[in-house]
Amino acid sequence: METLVFVWLLLIFLPHLTSSLTQEFSFTGFKKASPNLIMSGVTEIANTGAIRLTTDTSRVIGHAFYSLPIRFKPPGQNRVLSFSTSFVIAMVPEYVALGGHGLAFIITPTPNLQGSLSSQYLGILNSSRANVSSNFFAVEFDTVKDLEFEDINDNHVGIDINSLESSISTPVAYFLPNSTKKELFLDSGRVIQAWIDYDSNKKRLDVKLSPLSEKPKLSLLSYNIDLSSVFGDEMYVGFSASTGLLASSHYILGWNFNMSGEAMSLSLPSLPRVPRPVKKKKSPGLILGVSFSCSLLIIAVLVAAVMFGIKKVKDEDRVEEWELDYGPHRFSYRELKKATNGFGDKELLGSGGFGKVYKGKLPDSEEFVAVKRISHESKQGVREFMSEVSSIGHLRHRNLVQLLGWCRRRQDLLLVYDFMPNGSLDMYLFGENPKVILTWDQRFKIIKGVASALLYLHEGWEQTVIHRDIKAANVLLDGDMNGRVGDFGLAKLYEHGSNPGVTRVVGTFGYLAPELTKSGKLTTSTDVYAFGALLLEVACGRRPIETNALPEELVMVDWVWSRWQSGDIREVVDWRLNGEYDEDEVVMVIKLGLLCSNNSPEVRPTMRQVVMYLEKQFPSPEVVPAPDFLDANDSMCLDDGSGNINAGEFEDFVDSARFYSGPNQTSTSSIFSFGGKTKTDGR
Ligand SMILES: *[C@@H]1O[C@H](CO)[C@@H](O)[C@H](O)[C@H]1NC(C)=O
Ligand SMILES: *[C@@H]1O[C@H](CO)[C@@H](O)[C@H](O)[C@H]1NC(C)=O
Ligand SMILES: *[C@@H]1O[C@H](CO)[C@@H](O)[C@H](O)[C@H]1NC(C)=O
Ligand SMILES: *[C@@H]1O[C@H](CO)[C@@H](O)[C@H](O)[C@H]1NC(C)=O
Repeated sequence: METLVFVWLLLIFLPHLTSSLTQEFSFTGFKKASPNLIMSGVTEIANTGAIRLTTDTSRVIGHAFYSLPIRFKPPGQNRVLSFSTSFVIAMVPEYVALGGHGLAFIITPTPNLQGSLSSQYLGILNSSRANVSSNFFAVEFDTVKDLEFEDINDNHVGIDINSLESSISTPVAYFLPNSTKKELFLDSGRVIQAWIDYDSNKKRLDVKLSPLSEKPKLSLLSYNIDLSSVFGDEMYVGFSASTGLLASSHYILGWNFNMSGEAMSLSLPSLPRVPRPVKKKKSPGLILGVSFSCSLLIIAVLVAAVMFGIKKVKDEDRVEEWELDYGPHRFSYRELKKATNGFGDKELLGSGGFGKVYKGKLPDSEEFVAVKRISHESKQGVREFMSEVSSIGHLRHRNLVQLLGWCRRRQDLLLVYDFMPNGSLDMYLFGENPKVILTWDQRFKIIKGVASALLYLHEGWEQTVIHRDIKAANVLLDGDMNGRVGDFGLAKLYEHGSNPGVTRVVGTFGYLAPELTKSGKLTTSTDVYAFGALLLEVACGRRPIETNALPEELVMVDWVWSRWQSGDIREVVDWRLNGEYDEDEVVMVIKLGLLCSNNSPEVRPTMRQVVMYLEKQFPSPEVVPAPDFLDANDSMCLDDGSGNINAGEFEDFVDSARFYSGPNQTSTSSIFSFGGKTKTDGR
């Protein structure tokens, strides 16, 4: 109401300044049943005064529009006036760092987006409209990487014109006053302010973000566009959000919009709080665990940051006492720089959450090496990590990627490994266009290699070593296509890197034993669980969690189990094998995969038993017990109104998502005890 009066006053006093309707509004929090908002879908005003566009229920959509249309074009002119808006969002994922799908600021001809779909359509489009030009403008804040719309990653902001395929997009970040760019994670539950400004003269659109109240000087996105063909004379402004199989609660805490100048920035402390997550029934253990581990994580990060600040290592190539024990393994920085052509892009083999890997050739040696350079961001625990690396340096097995040495320079860690000319197993199993399809014999040899490496880590050395991150991406192939296990010890390091990004999580999601979530206790049996997922991956040629698959095929273990029970097990075997495989071996691998993937650690075999099965020293197991999902009767009541997913499927998904909440707990506890990976190493 006040806004209307304001607009009238402006109309009365300013008509001589501009012939167009001047409009602006400001919300610091929202009232229930506000006449200024048109809401649809599941959108409601939460008790704290925030707009909750969606809850963290699967596959829902929500919209909130300002109730009056905004006049964007002066009468008789086909020119879009400048506009400016600032608003504050928060996305609270259902499970830590695992949410979806995102929200968007939208400008549309109508506030009635009937028939629009959830998931990647963000509640804006229905699929049939997806390629028809129905005019809309959106700035999307997207937390899932959709192949359909060629998303760049699972944490991006993009400008969408008449299509959800962004015209321009970039990973989410913000600029500090001194122009330093910092990463920002939408899915973190953090309160984030966004500014969108359109300059009518320059025909330029600028998007800025910050977790603070002040507007940054630099734009995250700057895009030259004439919006006159996109906008009608009058359009509605608002927000749209949706969830998919992964869900977040999407909130708008405040919103300024201005056609007559720059929208004021919102002062974050004056805005409503982000409501606490509303849990649908049951699983209090999980909530407790997660929030407990979150606060632990925050404390741990603070402690680590303070400690790190105190003993920042300034000198180059510093040699420490413990390093002298392992003198031969230490390389000089200059040597490695030379070997990799100054860490040149040409030598880059790959990069991941932990840093970059370069190919190199050491002076006076004919052999190639791989040099892993651990990035600046993951600097916590470098020293502890190094002391572990130095002990791992003594491991020797033909199916391990040999660590040849290391080097340290300031906060950079460089690890030197045997070079593996054939890359990692995942590229062959589910790369976009694998160069080579591995034959069954090759696959079986790789599996046996990995199994014997794990047996060695678990039992063959003076200490028990738990790898913690067995997965196809960590199995490398040497010149003879032998499987070699790599990356031990690194798992922990990049877990501690401050990045809780979904990319890494989804990679590991599906390999985590369920008991990890309960006790956080690492045992050799947790590696066996991950190895089970690997066995099924190799036989089926797919990932443990395929977010693009049909709901009933989402979780590989369930899918394989259901086919196993119905007797059509051949259906799960990788179609790329063209039916050319030794049936007994394939069946054994699938049986073992199911056995190792059992939720209860007691049922899983030891690596020694696995190796004996694979070497055919034991007949393959007769009976395979059901994977036995946790809390089978802890059913969730699912009422998302879409009817797209039934409660049973949802539960399975929730169960596997629940497994995921494990690493937060384990990684938190292991910030305090950096020896988490090597279980019985006496420290
Ligand atoms: C999608 O939207 C268009 C335009 O509103 C409508 O004509 C069409 O029927 C919708 N399709 C579906 C499948 O709902
Ligand atoms: C949408 O795209 C599909 C495939 O590109 C095409 O076959 C179809 O005709 C398009 N629909 C419209 C209405 O343009
Ligand atoms: C910018 O400021 C941040 C914190 O205020 C600081 O950490 C960073 O080093 C600064 N960067 C530059 C280039 O001055
Ligand atoms: C809109 O811009 C005018 C002129 O800069 C300013 O005085 C006013 O406070 C702004 N209103 C809002 C809601 O940002």
